[in-house]
Amino acid sequence: MCRFLALSQLFMVLFKKSNDLRNYLDSQRKYQGKIGFVPTMGALHAGHITLINAAKNGGKLCVTSIFVNPTQFNDPADFKKYPVTIEKDIELLEAAGCDVLFLPTVEEIYPDGAKLNRHYDLGFLEKMLEGEYRPGHFQGVCAVVERLLKIVIPDNLYIGQKDYQQCMVIKKLIELMDMQNVIKVNISPTLREADGLAMSSRNMRLSPGEREKASSIYQSLRFIKENIQPGKLADLKNQAAQLLTQKQFKVDYVEIADAATLLIVNDWDGKQKLVTLAAAFLNGIRLIDNILLSEE
Ligand code: PAJ
Repeated sequence: MCRFLALSQLFMVLFKKSNDLRNYLDSQRKYQGKIGFVPTMGALHAGHITLINAAKNGGKLCVTSIFVNPTQFNDPADFKKYPVTIEKDIELLEAAGCDVLFLPTVEEIYPDGAKLNRHYDLGFLEKMLEGEYRPGHFQGVCAVVERLLKIVIPDNLYIGQKDYQQCMVIKKLIELMDMQNVIKVNISPTLREADGLAMSSRNMRLSPGEREKASSIYQSLRFIKENIQPGKLADLKNQAAQLLTQKQFKVDYVEIADAATLLIVNDWDGKQKLVTLAAAFLNGIRLIDNILLSEE
C-alpha cells in the first residue's frame, strides 16, 4: 500500500483492467482521500488539461480515462476517423500531474459487445439539440459514463461546459444512478484558441483553410450575445445561422435556451438566464459550441 502511495506521487500509474483499477483505488482511498475523475476520449488538448488541473487543485487523486466509446457515435465514419494520439496523451497527462490513467479496451467496458443494453430516461434532453441531431448519442454517453463511474466511484467528477447538454445528461445520469450525494459534478469553462474557436479533438481534422473559417461558430454565438434584445428571437437566430452558411458551414442548429433547463426560448423576457448553442459541419467535421448570455 505504501509503495502504491509513493508511486502515485512520482509517476502516473496506468491500468487496463477494471478490477485492477478498482483494487488500486480502494487502497488509495484510505490514504489519499478524495478521488477526482476526468473521463475523456483522448486526443487530448489544453481544454482537457484544465479539467486535470481542476481535479489536482482540489488536492485530489486525479484519475483520467481514455476510451473512444463506440456506442456514442451515431455516425460510424466519425468513429473511424476519431483521432487517436495515445503517446502524446500520456506525455500531456504526466506533465499535468495526473496520478492514474485508465485505458480500457472495448471488451473491458462492454464484455457483452459494444451495444446498448438498457434505455436511460433522459426526458426531453434526448430529443432536442444534440439529442435530435445525434440520435442515440446520449444513450451511448450514459452507458460508458455509468460503467466508468461504477469502476472509479469518484468523489468529484470534472466535465467541460464545452459539451453543455452532455453536462446536463451526466447530471441526470448520476440522479438515475442515485449517486447525487456521492459524486459532486464540477463544470469547467470552455478553453478557446486565440481566435475564439473552442478547443476540441475534432479540430485536429480541420485543414488549414477550414481551421481559419472554424472560429465563425464562436463569432455567430458572440453575434447573438451582442445583439439579443427582449422579445422574439427567431430573426436573431436566423441571422446567426446565416453567418455560418455564408462560410460554407452546414448548420444543424443555432439556438437560444434557458441556461438551467435547456428548454428552447423563442420569446425572451429580458430576465431569464440564457445560453446560446450551435452545431455545424465544416466539410463533414461536426463542431459544437455554446456561450452563456448572462456572463462576460
Ligand atoms: P471528450 O470529447 O474527450 O471530452 C472530455 C471532457 O473534456 C468533456 O467533459 C468535455 O466537455 C471536456 N472538454 C472538451 N473540450 C474542452 C474545452 N475546450 N475546454 C474545456 N473542457 C473541454 O466528452 C467526451 O469526451 C465523452 O463524451 C465522454 C464524456 C468521455 C464519454 O465518452
